[in-house]
Amino acid sequence: MKWLRRLGIALAVLVLVLAIGAGTVYGVSASRLSRSYASVKGHAVTVHADSATIERGRHIATAVIKCVDCHRADFGGGLVVDDPAIGTVAASNVTTGAGGVLARYDDALLERAIRHGIGHDGRGLWIMPSYEVQGLADDDLAALIAYIRSLKPVDRTMPPLRLGPVGRALYVGGKLPLVDASRIAPDITHPVSMPAAPTAEYGKYAARVGGCFGCHGETLSGGPIPGSPPDWKPAANITPTGLQAYDEAAFVKLLKTGTRPAGTMVDSLMPYRFTKDLTPSRRSRRATNA
Ligand code: HEC
Ligand code: HEC
Repeated sequence: MKWLRRLGIALAVLVLVLAIGAGTVYGVSASRLSRSYASVKGHAVTVHADSATIERGRHIATAVIKCVDCHRADFGGGLVVDDPAIGTVAASNVTTGAGGVLARYDDALLERAIRHGIGHDGRGLWIMPSYEVQGLADDDLAALIAYIRSLKPVDRTMPPLRLGPVGRALYVGGKLPLVDASRIAPDITHPVSMPAAPTAEYGKYAARVGGCFGCHGETLSGGPIPGSPPDWKPAANITPTGLQAYDEAAFVKLLKTGTRPAGTMVDSLMPYRFTKDLTPSRRSRRATNA
């Protein structure tokens, strides 16, 4: 029974190769994920907690950056990924309630978490969209911090982070941009104040920190969303070529309702649930001058 023995040997080799592959993926991902960013220094901003500043912070957290999509409207946290193969990732409870982490953060540490994606313990935070948010101006950042500190404590404990076998393979293969801290220059300088609104410069700023570029691409010409599963729709081309059917009113309607000029709805990947609250111009005065 020579062929049976050959088959046995082939199977044994296959199992060995798979085991070595899985072991390598596990080892490489564990070592990359354990990298510490503790040497990156947080950058202090002056935070004023007047009501106009808090309102600007609320606007950024809900309509512009959409922190609430992951952290929930009360910032008490929520599951972002929950799949045995990919992993379990919860956005933290960023309040002072039971299970919340806010008490561990002073303003400089919050700055580092938001604009550099680094936790209070120096760990690279998973899925925090800091690569986009790194360009947030000091005055908007201060307003966001004032808003977060104004929220009621929420008692909610999130499950621990876990990366499953497929999640690890995708991460090691560069298909899952999990830790933005690894892509952000530690010594990056930040703008002091947001551009005046409404101007094209302000639009570009809001599109950057608000993630339009993150999904629609650096040239806004659309394509597959980085790190997305294969069944997700690609982002649309939103350059003038792609938006020929749109005038300004139609564009505003899309952002407010998700309805295209032809009356069809865009896929819910397009975050119109949040962009609906964008305002025609900037809403409040500058936080640092308040
Ligand atoms: C795409 C989802 C997502 C968005 C949007 C998001 N976060 Fe997070 N955030 C997370 C996840 C997931 C974690 C936990 C990561 C970890 O523990 O590795 C986190 C962690 C944090 C932490 C650190 C908490 C801790 O456990 O130490 C802070 C602070 C934070 N986020 C604030 C914000 C703010 C402010 C915004 C909006 C500017 C925001 N996040 C937007 C997903 C998100
Ligand atoms: C999370 C990813 C994501 C973000 C962030 C995002 N979009 Fe989209 N957007 C999409 C996807 C996906 C589509 C295509 C949906 C479809 O095909 O039904 C889309 C469609 C659109 C359309 C409709 C285009 C058409 O073909 O009719 C416009 C306009 C648009 N987005 C503008 C924006 C703007 C402006 C921003 C920033 C405020 C933004 N998007 C942020 C994913 C995103």
